[in-house]
Amino acid sequence: MVKNKLAIIGGSGLYDVEKFNDRELLNIETPWGKPSDQILKTKYNNKEVFFLPRHGRGHFISPSKINFRANIDALKQLGVTDIVSVSAVGSLKEDLPPGKFVIVDQFIDRTFARIKTFFDNEIVAHVSMAHPTSNGLMNACEEAIKKSNIDCQRNGTYVVMEGPQFSTLAESNLYRTWKADVIGMTNMPEAKLAREAEIRYASVSMVTDFDCWHPDHENVDVQQVVKVLLGNAEKAKVMIKNLIDNFEDHIDPNDPTNNCLDVAIITAPEKR
Ligand code: ADE
Repeated sequence: MVKNKLAIIGGSGLYDVEKFNDRELLNIETPWGKPSDQILKTKYNNKEVFFLPRHGRGHFISPSKINFRANIDALKQLGVTDIVSVSAVGSLKEDLPPGKFVIVDQFIDRTFARIKTFFDNEIVAHVSMAHPTSNGLMNACEEAIKKSNIDCQRNGTYVVMEGPQFSTLAESNLYRTWKADVIGMTNMPEAKLAREAEIRYASVSMVTDFDCWHPDHENVDVQQVVKVLLGNAEKAKVMIKNLIDNFEDHIDPNDPTNNCLDVAIITAPEKR
């Protein structure tokens, strides 16, 4: 039986989970290069958890330069079966104010300057991305968030933009007509690569701003994002503790991610 292992990929403002004893920082090499930083292996309530800050500790890697393949490969090497991505996002909806969390279940991938697959050399695979996040893991996130008394929306669509600049007003308004909920720069190709690695994935997005579409709010800037993040990161850490405790109770042994490569590789067996 596969042992379930959880990893948290943290975004802006969440570089670490402090106060966990039993800490080890791992340097992992992958065929795709180095991950964003050392991976923290730690324990909470005697349960192992890994933590990877996707911008590096101190935030020195821009969204387009994140080595997403190395990040996912490194976690796979460590035996990780479940990834919860925690990220800062802008809101595209009136009822998603700063401070609110969204358990994202869909993405619109608008990125264009990133490598998005492990299968670009000799072996070709087309995994399904119809449902990019794992239902069981989202249930675990929802329970952990509610237990932490955080205001949260279950389900929502995340527009992933290339950045690093924020959106123009026309773009922001366009995404609103698409009925998207939040916007950020990092969950793709992370979710696609996790799927190709057969790792279950969920995204907890923390709203920091109203982007630039809202007539009653200032256009987003980094200062605003960081200010809200400092409050959010503390809430996120409580959620993470609850998640470490509960995630195994929600694992679906029939989650389609578990064996998705079985039906995805198109290259003839004799060519593999
Ligand atoms: N991250 C936080 N706020 C954002 C915004 N408004 N657009 C893109 N990424 C973000």
